[in-house]
Amino acid sequence: MKGLILSGGKGTRLRPLTFTQAKQLVPVANKPVLFYGIEALVGAGIRDIGIIVGDTKAEIREAVGDGRRWGDDVRVSYIDQPEPLGLAHAVLIAEEFLAGEPFVMYLGDNILKSGIVSLVDSFRKRKPNALILLTPVPNPRMFGVAELENGKVVRLVEKPQEPKSNLALVGVYMFDSHIFEAAKAIKPSRRNELEITDAIQFLVDSGYEVQPHLVSGWWKDTGKIEDILEANRLILETISGAVLGAVDDASRISGEVIIEKGVSVRSSTIRGPAIIGAGTEIADSYIGPFTSIQKNCRIIQTEIEHSIVLEGSEIVDVGSRIDESLIGREVRIYKCPPKPLAYRFMVGDKSEIGLK
Ligand code: TTP
Repeated sequence: MKGLILSGGKGTRLRPLTFTQAKQLVPVANKPVLFYGIEALVGAGIRDIGIIVGDTKAEIREAVGDGRRWGDDVRVSYIDQPEPLGLAHAVLIAEEFLAGEPFVMYLGDNILKSGIVSLVDSFRKRKPNALILLTPVPNPRMFGVAELENGKVVRLVEKPQEPKSNLALVGVYMFDSHIFEAAKAIKPSRRNELEITDAIQFLVDSGYEVQPHLVSGWWKDTGKIEDILEANRLILETISGAVLGAVDDASRISGEVIIEKGVSVRSSTIRGPAIIGAGTEIADSYIGPFTSIQKNCRIIQTEIEHSIVLEGSEIVDVGSRIDESLIGREVRIYKCPPKPLAYRFMVGDKSEIGLK
């Protein structure tokens, strides 16, 4: 059995971050989202993993490497998708890599708390043509939704106006080689993508067995900022504290806080769960729960919580608390001289700033 992780795409909903960075490498609790997917596949015994890549191929390749960091027998190959023409298109271009074997398809921006062991076991035992992961959601109108009859999937509807079920498709699927027949038979959708939901519907309509599998535990698609922050919160809730850096006597650390090597914390309060990356300096500040600060940042005279700060950023003397924010790499946020009393911005395209 092989693994196929989709790590191409446009990432429009995460601009401006995705102008310069792959969305699958945005860190959640200081670890790239994509690594959670790789770990889920490896945890289910999959050793041969293909990663679909687009414009951000070089960066993804550099971060992931050949896969050996997840085990001596783990191999990662890269499959170029010249244009992000849809999830079923990604399956088609991976046909040679998949070589007729059944496979798990995992969207590279998704995190599943409980991994995919039970999904893979169930596929091995029941041997359907496709197994799709589903989870009940309160707002099915915003998702691809599956309708079931007698324990089988009979219909998939993208963002239904009148949902007949509350079971949303989670970004993990298992297929045997019939999915290629389906992906070749369907036509591009209105947004000009080969949709995986259409390919699965083709399987159902052609009499192939498509079974549902319910997720246990939470699932997050990190395509939008709110979801990244929520995933960060959920992962941080599971960490155990460890102080490897220097914390002075005037500082207070409470709850589960990971302070990596080379961190310096002076006259500050850090309330976990939180993680502070190597080489970061924190002084005269408050770091509140659910905050991940990556390596080599400077947080001085600042209050911040429920946020993610990427590497090399500097936040100095911000007058009020920063909350629910995602701050990119090498960003500088600082207080201006007192006069004139004005905001001064140098902000890239598609940035978003909320002022009080
Ligand atoms: P999406 O989040 O649905 O699409 P996107 O990355 O283009 O983002 P946005 O809607 O914000 O513009 O994609 C889910 C995952 O699949 C994500 O990791 C990107 C990947 N993907 C591909 O690899 N190839 C594709 O053709 C598409 C559409 C997505």
